[in-house]
Amino acid sequence: MKILAFETSCDDTSIALFEDDKLISMHTKSQIKIHNLTWWVVPEVASREHANVIFDVLADVLSDGEVELWDIDYIAVTTHPWLVPSLLTGITVASTLSQTLQIPILPIDHIQAHIFSNFLEREESEIKFPLCCLTVSGGHNEVYYMPDMWTREKLWQTQDDAAGEAFDKVAKMMWLWYPGGPIISKLASEFHWDSKKMFPRVYLEKSEFWFSFSGLKSAVKREIDTRWELTNEDKKEISFEFQSAVNEVLCYKLMEAAKQKWVSTILLAGWVSANDDLNMRIQQEATKIWLVFFAPAKKLYCMDNAAMIWILAYYKIKYGQFEEKIWTLEVWKW
Ligand code: KG4
Ligand code: ZN
Repeated sequence: MKILAFETSCDDTSIALFEDDKLISMHTKSQIKIHNLTWWVVPEVASREHANVIFDVLADVLSDGEVELWDIDYIAVTTHPWLVPSLLTGITVASTLSQTLQIPILPIDHIQAHIFSNFLEREESEIKFPLCCLTVSGGHNEVYYMPDMWTREKLWQTQDDAAGEAFDKVAKMMWLWYPGGPIISKLASEFHWDSKKMFPRVYLEKSEFWFSFSGLKSAVKREIDTRWELTNEDKKEISFEFQSAVNEVLCYKLMEAAKQKWVSTILLAGWVSANDDLNMRIQQEATKIWLVFFAPAKKLYCMDNAAMIWILAYYKIKYGQFEEKIWTLEVWKW
């Protein structure tokens, strides 16, 4: 069974081809350099860039895998949520292929796929339900309770920014590049002095799962404005203090969810799950209360990638969780 998976929900054009559960080929074209100019993804710019490269990426995947289009059995594509113009590019190409080749297509939820990225390069039996999952990226910041693989109860989400977006905006305040997360976490790892705990830990109600990062952003801005000239040492300190303020809260809320829901497994997903400090904090806290903690097996699987779209499609087919349909653009109604 060959599945061709598409991911174009934000600024990565990623296509992967799998045979049964083996990766044959995956290519991803990132638009980071383009969005550096604006410090954030402008949806129409992203969409045009997806359209410019998607056929080249597809050609690379097929030629690497030595596969012809008519050998493919299923198509999977991200349909929601995220940037509509970006999504539309992937959906248009995928649904055209589905109709031309007369093969079924699976609509894939981007957040659910981030969660399922934890199954990549792992045995299904390793991750036990029920569990709680923190999904945290540039546009999403939620805690879910999952009693089983196919049921997802959103416990709460951010009231304003997602943590990843806050990383991006703080990076912008310090004239660093987009995306801010990887740069800030690197600078933070180079800060070796005592923490002054200079930024607020925004818990809101401690026993509930709201998040809020916009006030923290303002606190960072105020601190930056007090400094005459932002030296490299200042940037390291602010990065460290800001990252600690975000990660302490993310970690606390995930633990709180696990305790309230009596689960023994917790997951982390979304590109912010590539943050080493966040992983370390969660691992430390999880060990204290005997929780089993998973984050994606490779950093590649934390970011937006077509492998996570494939794995969700693979499990949906395995467990009959989809309607076998050839698609038109009616996908919007699904
Ligand atoms: O998953 P993703 O590509 O976007 C959504 O699906 O929403 O996540 C992108 C976000 C960006 O905001 C980026 O700054 C953040 O993930 N990010 C990080 C790290 N790597 C990426 N944030 C903190 N630490 C990192 N190491
Ligand atoms: Zn994502």
